[in-house]
Amino acid sequence: MFASKTILAALTRPKGRAGFSSTARLHKPPPLDWKMTGDIPPYGPVGVARALQASPSEPAKPTLFAHEFSLADRVALVSGANRGLGLEMALALVEAGARTVYCVDLPSAPGEEWTAVRDYAARLEGLPSKDGAGRLQYLSADVRDQEAMWRVGETIGEREGRMDVCVAAAGILKSHTDCLEYPAKQFQEVLDVNVNGVLFTAQAAGRQMARFGNGGSIILIASMSGSITNKDHAWVSYNTSKSAVVQMGRSMACELGPKRIRVNTLSPGHIYTTMTAAYLDTQPHLLDKWASLNPMGRIGRPDELRGVVAWLASDASTFCTGSDILVSGGHHAW
Ligand SMILES: NC(=O)c1ccc[n+]([C@@H]2O[C@H](COP(=O)([O-])OP(=O)(O)OC[C@H]3O[C@@H](n4cnc5c(N)ncnc54)[C@H](O)[C@@H]3O)[C@@H](O)[C@H]2O)c1
Repeated sequence: MFASKTILAALTRPKGRAGFSSTARLHKPPPLDWKMTGDIPPYGPVGVARALQASPSEPAKPTLFAHEFSLADRVALVSGANRGLGLEMALALVEAGARTVYCVDLPSAPGEEWTAVRDYAARLEGLPSKDGAGRLQYLSADVRDQEAMWRVGETIGEREGRMDVCVAAAGILKSHTDCLEYPAKQFQEVLDVNVNGVLFTAQAAGRQMARFGNGGSIILIASMSGSITNKDHAWVSYNTSKSAVVQMGRSMACELGPKRIRVNTLSPGHIYTTMTAAYLDTQPHLLDKWASLNPMGRIGRPDELRGVVAWLASDASTFCTGSDILVSGGHHAW
């Protein structure tokens, strides 16, 4: 108890009234106050601060998964979530406690895979959301349409009264095209979805986050191709677009930090989905080739993004913004 009082006194001490002599100031860091250290969450301090404040007579309960990683009652928007990585991450958010995850994608009605996952999410037991339920909702929209995406955000805001998490996962990859011959129209098509669409998705959610004033977490799905070039693949439009997403994330993070809206990019390596199946199913030798390009010796699975998306979406990452998180099996390290 003695230690905790000392820490609290130092942390809450008003600025400019240091409780130690000028000689001590040379050897000790300046005192902190709550303003500098951010908001204390509604569930109180965690970790060592909690341990030092805890009364020995009260039961001690772990908070890491019960609170910091929990998305209990939060609301999320995930684009490109009819299938693939978007759908995988949408389910992860439900399992972490989000009360509703809105899945936005192009088809007017969701596919069979999405419907099966929605039904599974509804049957999940022991979810940390307040009513114990987890919901996936489908909304059809084209991420290239800024007004439509803003309306999607507004619809969710009206319905839910909050917006906490955004994952901008919709993206496209074209077939090999020589960079010196790359047609303007095709280049524009890729940028329209992978860059403009990501911005419009982030805006749709971010505008609602700003409206409700609870802060939020925006996760832009980039790619390791935003930082490295995939050996022997003529993907100049895709690589350019993903690099733009990485810089978009940093730029938005700097603008939105004062509103407590965090923006990070998540950059996966090779993972088998419909997007990569277009290559792997038609050129099976690529599986061994891609696997040999990282120290893990294999390509990734969509579920291997569950942990990182839950971390980025939640209070477990409250000091992380403007970062690019690479999950590539180490591809980028070689
Ligand atoms: N699979 C990989 O190896 C890999 C690696 C790095 C990054 N990524 C990125 O992850 C994201 C998801 O890719 P995936 O592998 O799940 O691919 P996918 O093709 O399975 O899924 C992409 C989804 O985006 C949707 N989409 C495309 N254009 C859209 C539009 N205009 N409006 C709304 N939705 C649209 C598609 O309908 C589809 O459901 C993409 O941004 C991709 O670039 C994938």
